[in-house]
Amino acid sequence: MAKRRHRKRYTGPDLTEHVDLNPGDRFEITLGEIDDTGAATADIEGAPIVVAGGLPGEVVIAEVQRRFPERIAAKVVQVLQPAAERVEAECRYFLTCSGCQWQHVSYGHQLELKRNRVQLEINRYESLSHVEVDATVESAKRLGYRNHGRFTIGKRDDAGQVGYVNAVTRRFLRIEECLLMDGPINDTLKLVQDRMAGQTQMTIRVGSNTGSILVQPRMNISGPGVVTGRQHYEEEVRGARFRVAASSFFQVNTGQLSRAVDEVRELLDLNGSELMIDAYSGVGVFAVLLAPYVRRVIGIEESASAIEDAKLNSECVENVEFIHGKTEVVLGGWGNWGNRPENWPGAGSHTGHGAGDGVVDVLLLDPPRVGCHPDVLASVKKLKPKKVLMVSCEPAALARDLDLLCSEGVYRLEVVRPIDMFPQTRHVEAISLLTLQGQTG
Ligand SMILES: C[S@@+](CC[C@H](N)C(=O)[O-])C[C@H]1O[C@@H](n2cnc3c(N)ncnc32)[C@H](O)[C@@H]1O
Repeated sequence: MAKRRHRKRYTGPDLTEHVDLNPGDRFEITLGEIDDTGAATADIEGAPIVVAGGLPGEVVIAEVQRRFPERIAAKVVQVLQPAAERVEAECRYFLTCSGCQWQHVSYGHQLELKRNRVQLEINRYESLSHVEVDATVESAKRLGYRNHGRFTIGKRDDAGQVGYVNAVTRRFLRIEECLLMDGPINDTLKLVQDRMAGQTQMTIRVGSNTGSILVQPRMNISGPGVVTGRQHYEEEVRGARFRVAASSFFQVNTGQLSRAVDEVRELLDLNGSELMIDAYSGVGVFAVLLAPYVRRVIGIEESASAIEDAKLNSECVENVEFIHGKTEVVLGGWGNWGNRPENWPGAGSHTGHGAGDGVVDVLLLDPPRVGCHPDVLASVKKLKPKKVLMVSCEPAALARDLDLLCSEGVYRLEVVRPIDMFPQTRHVEAISLLTLQGQTG
């Protein structure tokens, strides 16, 4: 899941104190490469400058947003010499809000930037650098794709208003709509705008293929069309129905999730005989949709609500079971209990189809942004599944984990395929396939 990552606090020398630029000041600058926050980089008298809304080679007028000891953060207010990849941003809040970094970049170039970002991380490791990262799989929807909105409620003069907080300035911004959100989320936003006094945050989630809506927290708001505080909503992916609890993870772009499932199935080239583990299984999307193509799937998930959802979502699927626990613990004990389901953590809740010899043929890993716990990767090298498929939303963590599997030659990285789950933003998801080396049978 795309959990928010906080930058580590900078503790080095003050690199910007000698530059006389303060919030609101404007200056002309030629922009350099894009950094991993999605902004263009530059420098003034050796002080690092990051400019939101710019592209390499452009000459712009930028306005200082905030000073930090390690950088001056600015945003483009006028473009003097545009790059060929520049387009007009569609959103009236672009750069006042910080949620989209790349609305000013043509979609084709966004896909290239994402591919390049993944390649850069892969190239940091000798064990991986033989791989040329595939082209990014594009999203059919470039706006209106998000099924999940997390909003902030204003305080004091802004009390009760719904909006976002700019990540650089930390200023609250009231919004009437967000162009990334699926239509029903914006419809609901209009109904709750100005009515959320007493709250700090709110969430609106929608089943893009079902219309089912979940609004949290519960509020004493009456009126047509708003029901707050429901515990679950429903989504449909590739014809299967999934219940999702308010506290369970679900990919934010339902259309691209379907594409990701197709890509994973194609890359794994399953023959129907495999025991597959779906680690970090969430509400069971991969487990349920891949079950028809393998002998058996065992999902592992630490969230109690997601496990409850997953069990319900797989009720009609014969060959799927779920283990409630941490992947690092469950895989660590697999050698002892893998062939004895009665010994699994949470035993008794399994329908028990028998694990056969317990040999894991295929392992799907879809960890949160931080990547896999090192114990997970140590267990993978002991269990030696023939194919390991990793789904990741953080290229640096992905490359680090892939290297841990490949650096001693136990696995070889075959494919890395970025998939655009988050158009208009710098974020990128990637699917990677590894195969076991030097083993037969
Ligand atoms: C990126 S989501 C993937 C979910 C699912 N594969 C999907 O695509 O819908 C990561 C999931 O891992 C779960 N999780 C986080 N840390 C875990 C751990 N150590 N062991 C097992 N599950 C974990 C989270 O609760 C979340 O459901």
